[in-house]
Amino acid sequence: MAKKEKIFIFDTTMRDGEQSPGASMSLEEKIQISRVFDELGIDIVEAGFPIASPGDFEAVSAISKVLKKSIPCGLARHSKKDIDRCYEALKHAPRFRIHTFISTSPLHMKHKLNKTPEQVYDSIKEHVTYARNLTDDVEWSCEDGTRTDIDYMCKTVELAINSGAKTINIPDTVGYTVPSEFTKIIETLLNKVPNIDKAILSTHCHNDLGLAVANSLAGVQAGARQIECTINGIGERAGNAALEEVVMAIRTRNDLMPYETGINTKLLSKASKLVSNVTGFPVQYNKAIVGKNAFAHESGIHQDGMLKNRNTYEIMTPESVGVKQTSLVMGKHSGRHAFKDKLISLGYADLTDDVIENAFGKFKILADKKKHIYDEDIIALVDDSLIIDNKSNSIILKSLKVFAGTGEPQKAEMKLEVNGQIKSANETGDGPVDAIFKCIKKLYPHEVNLQLYQVHAVTEGTDAQATVSVRIEENGKTTVGQAADTDTLVASANAYISALNKMIIKREKTAPAMEQILDEKEKVRGI
Ligand code: KIV
Ligand code: ZN
Repeated sequence: MAKKEKIFIFDTTMRDGEQSPGASMSLEEKIQISRVFDELGIDIVEAGFPIASPGDFEAVSAISKVLKKSIPCGLARHSKKDIDRCYEALKHAPRFRIHTFISTSPLHMKHKLNKTPEQVYDSIKEHVTYARNLTDDVEWSCEDGTRTDIDYMCKTVELAINSGAKTINIPDTVGYTVPSEFTKIIETLLNKVPNIDKAILSTHCHNDLGLAVANSLAGVQAGARQIECTINGIGERAGNAALEEVVMAIRTRNDLMPYETGINTKLLSKASKLVSNVTGFPVQYNKAIVGKNAFAHESGIHQDGMLKNRNTYEIMTPESVGVKQTSLVMGKHSGRHAFKDKLISLGYADLTDDVIENAFGKFKILADKKKHIYDEDIIALVDDSLIIDNKSNSIILKSLKVFAGTGEPQKAEMKLEVNGQIKSANETGDGPVDAIFKCIKKLYPHEVNLQLYQVHAVTEGTDAQATVSVRIEENGKTTVGQAADTDTLVASANAYISALNKMIIKREKTAPAMEQILDEKEKVRGI
């Protein structure tokens, strides 16, 4: 059988995805995500925009050292300073990609760049050549490509390839195109650009009209061989093409799209949960591939069909994307060894002894409180241990008592360890969560905006653990904290404290020349 053509999967969750309002990820979280992406088989990981801030630079640099198989990539505008910064962040990796871009649509050239088409054209030669002198893996993007004059686009693409770009990315920056139009754009480039055989064409579709996945697949069917996408489809505004959807569409409709990706689809569900946890962006229940209901069959007719033959209503199996049947896993008599084996089977192969020990302690406490412990419970425990038991935490919850109910003002009594000192407070509030958050504020005075407070049950039943997510904002910077506990109020306190601890770290890291850096970041985001 002839070998199928490969479609390269370029993930931009940590760059375009992080540009979603409120979706910020800490360095540790980005490293955790990168490890999963490496295992998942992503070909190229766009790790960030190194010029945007010292934090972005540090993240791209750290990720480029963590990735073993995926190629790390950084984004740079057409500016030598941007490209140098990108190179500095990536240079430790044995192979890396520099992705440089400029707008080519009349609207963007005139109003955003204040440049003529000739100036933009000249800039391509200068900057792609400059990047190519630093690496032989250069990608060039014509921002707002789908609103660019097609003849002008052909000329710029030809020049970018002649200047050394090996990948040419056609962004639908504002999510404006439709599949038939995008097909035509890719076909025209393939037919009219004389040196197009020296580069791979790539799609980068935004989802403003809900067409990002359809447009990406149309691009591939027309001849593109790289798809830029993000886990859960996160990204600017309505997001980017969802990685899990494009990959599973190619796999499921291989009769129409006879290509292969290198993605281990059984890890899609794990990657989706991780990105959702880290960003605090819930995955909608009916989301294709990774939504809670994506494989649930509710109606009697469907259930009857499924029992007779799964193919009646199932076009792909839940197992193929890593959704396991909820399984009863362990009880209070399970030992350390069985717990460790369970963690490995759930994909937690390289946890430190400290994290395992901490999670095991929590598991024992949970087993005393909760009759049935499921895989989801163990996952919540470990994720919680990874986040809460961070050695660099300044604030730790020592104890909490809450008085709630009808008739009386709700009250919280709390003990916190703040920078090694034990402090206590009690506060009343407009509900128990308000009282808890007021206690934290009293013991660790701070001014932040609470942007999100969200509770999810990890499993079914009234004794289920609750996962609480909290997003806070301070001077334009956001952090997300998460915690799980059978007591929703304890989880709420820990989630808020976790977000605060991350904010403290973020403050320390962005302290130098903050104004200038934030200005630069604003500029970068505004392009
Ligand atoms: O949407 C876009 O145009 C981008 C480019 C920087 C590739 O994200
Ligand atoms: Zn984009």
